[in-house]
Amino acid sequence: MAGEAKTPAIPSYRSLAALREAARGCTACPLHEAATQTVFGEGPAHARLLLVGETPGDQEDRIGRPFVGPAGKLLDRCLAAAGIARDQAYVTNVVKHFKWTPRGKRRLHAKPNAMEIRACRPWLEAEIALVKPAMIVCLGATAAQALLGAQFRVTRRRGEFVPSPLARLVMATIHPSALLRAEPEQREAEIERFVADLKVAAAALEKA
Ligand code: URA
Repeated sequence: MAGEAKTPAIPSYRSLAALREAARGCTACPLHEAATQTVFGEGPAHARLLLVGETPGDQEDRIGRPFVGPAGKLLDRCLAAAGIARDQAYVTNVVKHFKWTPRGKRRLHAKPNAMEIRACRPWLEAEIALVKPAMIVCLGATAAQALLGAQFRVTRRRGEFVPSPLARLVMATIHPSALLRAEPEQREAEIERFVADLKVAAAALEKA
């Protein structure tokens, strides 16, 4: 049926390397057609913290790594300010192919739809099952709603731990792209709020 996700049946992969390799050929939704490559998660195999964003952006699509473009650089800066070493975290996205629309020579990021999120979900579930993080931090509404339910509102519950079978500690906060879009006069205050959320995560992770 048109618009239906051909969700891949993911056998129980024993390692992230095998899972990553399998995801390279994913055609479960049409996004693979216009993307350069699958942008799989990266980080220590048993990271205690798993960060999940929405979809790779233009630079992530070209380079093949999550959060390496402008939003990723800001994320790195904020993680460092909160005392979290990025290389100790497993960083991934809900959807693993870049979704874009052309604007002249530029490729503008587009939001994944419910079918694309559903099609990609088995990869994220398998990553979580293999990494077994003590804490998951959802970056933005797409990640939060994909993992915590469509009714979840980041605006109301950011920085709060919410019960979830996915990990002992699960929290959502805003996406670093929202900080890049913030009005210049509000940006630093918004960055500080984001860092404050990450500090709450860091403190809880230390005790977990
Ligand atoms: N935004 C995301 O959600 N993920 C990335 O990897 C880059 C930008």
